[in-house]
Amino acid sequence: MADKGYGYEECEATADWLLARTGVRPAVGIVCGSGLGGLADMLKDQVAFNYEDIPNFPQSTVHGHAGRLVFGTLKGRSCVCMQGRFHLYEGYPVQKITLPIRIFKLLGVDTVMLTNAAGGLNRDFKVGDIMVIKDHLNLPGFAGVNPLSGPNDERFGARFPCMSDAYDGALRQMAMHVGRELGYGDFLKEGVYCVLGGPSFETIAESRMLHKLGADAVGMSTAHEVIVARHCGMRVLALSLITNQAVMDYDSEAKANHEEVLETGTRRAAQLERLVSTMVTKMELN
Ligand code: 6GU
Repeated sequence: MADKGYGYEECEATADWLLARTGVRPAVGIVCGSGLGGLADMLKDQVAFNYEDIPNFPQSTVHGHAGRLVFGTLKGRSCVCMQGRFHLYEGYPVQKITLPIRIFKLLGVDTVMLTNAAGGLNRDFKVGDIMVIKDHLNLPGFAGVNPLSGPNDERFGARFPCMSDAYDGALRQMAMHVGRELGYGDFLKEGVYCVLGGPSFETIAESRMLHKLGADAVGMSTAHEVIVARHCGMRVLALSLITNQAVMDYDSEAKANHEEVLETGTRRAAQLERLVSTMVTKMELN
């Protein structure tokens, strides 16, 4: 919120601070999910900043998230990459966890690509599937937790932004196409992502409810960042790596745990990173 120190001026000061320290002018901004930060290491001619050194930036507190903002190029395309993101469950206000997205905008980013680790709710999904997100359920939003609540600054966008086209159709098509070309057809899916606040995983009753509501996967990130990115007019692509099946059966012995999430992340991470990097090199940019 403007009156809480997350306003346009703070974002601008941070963007200017960064632009004074790198010659990279990124058109693409990438946000790496849990265990998916390897993408940042693929960037050439890197200029990297630890979050703790960037003015106004929150600090990352989760194991598996490095906490660096990395500028660089992928086959000549300029990018900026968040290696580690911020979550509601770390205790930050939702306006703070989405602040880097507004900084992306002021750095000149046009297209945002986000990845996350998610639990599968759709019975047809398998652990290791990559889900191209076509829509989301922002459950915290139902209770008033929306990154756009508070005074609206028109320099970012409109008071009441449309969200029915949040996940860019052309980028989703391209993700499916490029994914098939890379030989990922068997584990590439499309679906609806549901965000919860965490950090506790879902109860069985909650997972059943989310599935009935139309969610294919559940996680603790991304949707807030997407809302902020769309508010300020950036194109969005988001991908979930299904790292585990949400427990939906009272007979099941399975238990969701962070180690399983990171382990699957490691196995499929390279493929997911390759999908994102291939898309960046093939993308039309405005
Ligand atoms: Cl099963 N639930 C949530 N909320 N987040 C996750 C997850 C499950 N698996 C990975 N991230």
